[in-house]
Amino acid sequence: MTALRYGRVSMLLHWLIGLALLGQIAFGFLLDEIAPRNTPTRAGVINLHKSFGIVLGLLIVARLAWRLLHRPPPWPEWMPPWQRTAAHIGHRALYACMIVMPLSGYVASNFSKHGVMLFGSAIEPWGPDLPLVYRVLNGVHVVTAFVFCGLILGHVLATLKHVLVDHDAVFARMWPETPTRLATPSSTSTQASP
Ligand code: HEM
Ligand code: HEM
Repeated sequence: MTALRYGRVSMLLHWLIGLALLGQIAFGFLLDEIAPRNTPTRAGVINLHKSFGIVLGLLIVARLAWRLLHRPPPWPEWMPPWQRTAAHIGHRALYACMIVMPLSGYVASNFSKHGVMLFGSAIEPWGPDLPLVYRVLNGVHVVTAFVFCGLILGHVLATLKHVLVDHDAVFARMWPETPTRLATPSSTSTQASP
């Protein structure tokens, strides 16, 4: 029988990484407030952001690998084609941002003499100190952060529409053990994919 909801591991990775990403994005935007430039605390706080970012990047690689190895549940029968297309494109764009954010930060740091301190251990940068390359990659990091925020907002609004307006079971596909009908009004199956 075809699974109608995401599996437990997919759910765990979605919510764990989703929450951590919201925290990391807020941390990024608040960096200048928490530790203004040219103050003694700046380097330590930036390195904490870099360390969290690298850990998150590794978790995202694990999530991506899991996703590529495990087929997601099929779209619910009632979902119109335009919604399937929108969700498909939106999810891909979210994955793209999840990759570009840590990658741009990490690669940028390697073209700066500051390099990366991973929770107190210095990692020698593998690139030369090239301020222009650093600035361009850092620009990618910042612009992607804004695009990512827009996509997350759209993603949450779409979910809220399903819950509050459509009253369907799309949210239940990503939430454990909700005894909600997932396929058609006559079906009560809640079988999960891996
Ligand atoms: C998923 C992971 C990450 C997210 C969501 C994230 C998010 C952000 C955000 C929102 C900002 C503020 C952008 C702005 O100034 O408007 C920022 C700044 C920054 N991020 Fe990240 N980041 C991540 C990973 C990393 C990594 C892995 C590194 C480096 C190893 C890094 C290095 C930096 C640096 C150096 C800044 C400060 C840029 C500046 O003000 O000049 N980030 N990040
Ligand atoms: C940083 C935050 C988030 C990111 C990056 C994110 C990303 C994603 C991605 C990529 C998928 C597709 C999963 C796949 O097919 O592999 C997904 C599914 C889903 N997300 Fe999120 N998400 C975030 C936050 C949220 C929040 C806050 C909610 C609830 C309000 C939510 C609700 C859902 C639901 C219900 C699905 C399943 C949609 C379906 O049936 O296909 N997500 N999310």
